[in-house]
Amino acid sequence: MRLGQKPATPEPAEGDANASPRRAAWQAANLGPEARALLAADEAVFLRQSLSTPCLNTLAGAAGSHLTDLDGRRYLDFHGNSLHQVGYGHPRVVAAVKAQLDALPFCPRRYANRPAAELGRRLAGLFPGDGGSGAKVLLTPGGTTAVGLALKLARQATGRFKTLSFWDSFHGASLDAISIGGEALFRSGSGPLLPGASLVPPPEPYRCRLNPGGDCAACGLRCAEFIAYVMEHEGDVGAIIAEPVRATAVHLPPPGFWPRVREICDRHGALLIFDETAVCLGRTGEMLACEHFGARPDIITLGKGLGGGIFPLAAVLARPELDLAPDRALGHYTHEKSPVGAAAALATLDVLADEGLVERSRRLGAEALARLAAMTLSHPLVGQVRGLGLALAVELVTDRATRTPATDAAEAVMYACLTRGLSFKVSHGNILTLTPPLTIAEADLASALNIVDAALAEVEASLGR
Ligand SMILES: Cc1ncc(COP(=O)(O)O)c(C=O)c1O
Repeated sequence: MRLGQKPATPEPAEGDANASPRRAAWQAANLGPEARALLAADEAVFLRQSLSTPCLNTLAGAAGSHLTDLDGRRYLDFHGNSLHQVGYGHPRVVAAVKAQLDALPFCPRRYANRPAAELGRRLAGLFPGDGGSGAKVLLTPGGTTAVGLALKLARQATGRFKTLSFWDSFHGASLDAISIGGEALFRSGSGPLLPGASLVPPPEPYRCRLNPGGDCAACGLRCAEFIAYVMEHEGDVGAIIAEPVRATAVHLPPPGFWPRVREICDRHGALLIFDETAVCLGRTGEMLACEHFGARPDIITLGKGLGGGIFPLAAVLARPELDLAPDRALGHYTHEKSPVGAAAALATLDVLADEGLVERSRRLGAEALARLAAMTLSHPLVGQVRGLGLALAVELVTDRATRTPATDAAEAVMYACLTRGLSFKVSHGNILTLTPPLTIAEADLASALNIVDAALAEVEASLGR
């Protein structure tokens, strides 16, 4: 490469491309004239952007675990933007929203309302440690704004602006969130980003950058020691922010990683922020994903499924001592204490408890993971399967020894599944991310896994493997 020459734009690290030949072929074979007309109308009015417009397909309905398109085809939705823990249109959530619309549809700032206050109380009780006693809460209209608010709170609390976060992570698409997020697709061309945002390699045992192909148990947590090194040298980092489990890839940190990071934060006077936007509320088989790892954060963000798959709603939960900026505006959102959003969230929390969905996620997730593990034996494309509750991932490789990502095959498997009635997302180019509703019927889960099995076989046959 010549001096000063820009390297080629990196491949999108996440999701399906909007204009691949495979997509065009799938659309030609599957979409009727009405759907095509809607896709064209959509593209005519919306700014085109990666992972969104032009769209893959149209929708006419979403109920339970299923999407229905304009051509009447039904798909089991194992993507759901990670927000359908209780499925689409859960009757109790819908009823709560309808009733609240009649009672108090909106609450201007400076007024309190019962559903929001009750939701704050219930969310504070989720804070790990001592039953959440004294934890404080702020509501926001989405995960990105919750992350931004958490970063501001950390600055107010520590008087420091520097952060440490992870390459390949995602925390939202706004400028502050992409500064701490590690995906080129969101960052490239949008700088300058926030000053003081250091990023380090993620704890990702299957494809570890610091101990390639190595054995986590023997390496002495090099990934955490790298963080200790950066913290030491930066000297004044205010917060480490991370997803406790990288949601879209289901990257599980090695044992002891988060407790060690907690120690490092304490040693350097930094806060630990867990962004649970995509993994909270039972997705991983615990109410909060961080409960798996024995490290108590200072701040937690929740989102996505919090609004019951209907209302945009997120929250920041903070240790009581962080209630220290009463004279500052931390979050100032028009829909901050939405009574309708709060009603949706309260109904969602009730459904999770009454239907035993956290435990169900744990049980069905373990069964599904065992089924996927069996596919490792019969499918050479499968490099590794991972899961925690009903957050499941199948990583495809061209060669198990080198763990070379099988990106083209992953896309082919995704379209083969779509044709058979299963929708999901491909993450990081080669990871099939499977996140069904926690309410999914066991027969539907089994048939989705059959579809993955059959699609893998079809693609392997086409590759002569
Ligand atoms: C971990 C994480 N944080 C933050 C966000 C942003 O949430 P929202 O799209 O609700 O702003 C997302 C969205 O995917 C996410 O996965």
